[in-house]
Amino acid sequence: MFPAAFFTATALFIFSSTAARRPPPNGILYDLSPFIRVYANGTVQRFIGQEFAPPGVDAATGVQSRDVKYSSTLNLTARIYLPGNAAANNKLPLLIYYHGGGFFTESAFSPTYHRFLNSLSSAAGAIAVSVNYRLAPEHPLPIAYEDSWLALKWAISGAGNDSWLKKHADFQRVYLGGDSAGGNLAHNMATRIGGSGLKIEGMFLNCPYFISRSTPELQLLRDVWIHAYPKDRRGLNDPLVNPAMDPGGLKRVGLKHIALYMGEKDPLKESEWDYKKGLERSGWKGKVEAVEFKGEGHVFNLLQPGAPDAAAMLKMIAAFINNEQ
Ligand SMILES: *[C@@H]1O[C@H](CO)[C@@H](O)[C@H](O)[C@H]1NC(C)=O
Ligand SMILES: *[C@@H]1O[C@H](CO)[C@@H](O)[C@H](O)[C@H]1NC(C)=O
Ligand SMILES: *[C@@H]1O[C@H](CO)[C@@H](O)[C@H](O)[C@H]1NC(C)=O
Repeated sequence: MFPAAFFTATALFIFSSTAARRPPPNGILYDLSPFIRVYANGTVQRFIGQEFAPPGVDAATGVQSRDVKYSSTLNLTARIYLPGNAAANNKLPLLIYYHGGGFFTESAFSPTYHRFLNSLSSAAGAIAVSVNYRLAPEHPLPIAYEDSWLALKWAISGAGNDSWLKKHADFQRVYLGGDSAGGNLAHNMATRIGGSGLKIEGMFLNCPYFISRSTPELQLLRDVWIHAYPKDRRGLNDPLVNPAMDPGGLKRVGLKHIALYMGEKDPLKESEWDYKKGLERSGWKGKVEAVEFKGEGHVFNLLQPGAPDAAAMLKMIAAFINNEQ
């Protein structure tokens, strides 16, 4: 996700773009406000997503959660969610979720994502694994892709040997999901599935971070990629960020159903439509359904979880995961 100040910050950036070529002020290496500021002395300042919401039983939904390691070697953790009413031998769809935050901020444990996963697990009657992956700049891309893949294999292969997954996950009904940078991660996991032997039914992408345009409104988000993945030789032509650059990769997306949710006022919207067109032109043998929410901005459902459109989207995702739409 991006912070509520996203549009203000974008506007300020455009306003000051002629000044942007000046050397950065004292000690600042680069400034991606409102995400992050990095100083030449190595200090990293994060502006959002630093809070930790403990796992437990959610009072509003009865959903239970706990934190589990998906890699002991790397000390990597995910949060698992189980609906409160899951009967002992009840098999549920399994959702593997990747949070957003521009690859630099947020976590699976922040109040924003904890609340969203509780709501979604309850609404969809699904067991969910919310993946915490390592962030740039301390861990530049492609590390987040590798962590995401480890978590996916851990959750599906059963090698993780988690008691909730063992009892309740229906491995014939596995879904991926993600928002913003997490939507990007989910898509790039889907391109790896083909040939891996893993079986995934579908994926939903909420305002995924793809960039295929060079409009001024996207300047900050282009800079996010450059700094999150400083060694990327292809830069913004990399299919990781601009999937339509590689139709072969799109064709390999290893699942059959995609739900794409967009906000009308999100500067990423055109690139997300480009993604849908790219998929359809690639020869990929699946179906992508797109919904553009009128008047809404980037990840509006996370920023205003109580709003009517957020509730509408939650219902759509729940139906999608239960193959009811
Ligand atoms: C790094 O620089 C910033 C800005 O000048 C300063 O606030 C911070 O204390 C410095 N950190 C260290 C470890 O020197
Ligand atoms: C593992 O990560 C947790 C935070 O997620 C941290 O508190 C702990 O110290 C880490 N353990 C090791 C051995 O690095
Ligand atoms: C799974 O857990 C059981 C019981 O806790 C244990 O005996 C078994 O070795 C574990 N398997 C793996 C692959 O970790």
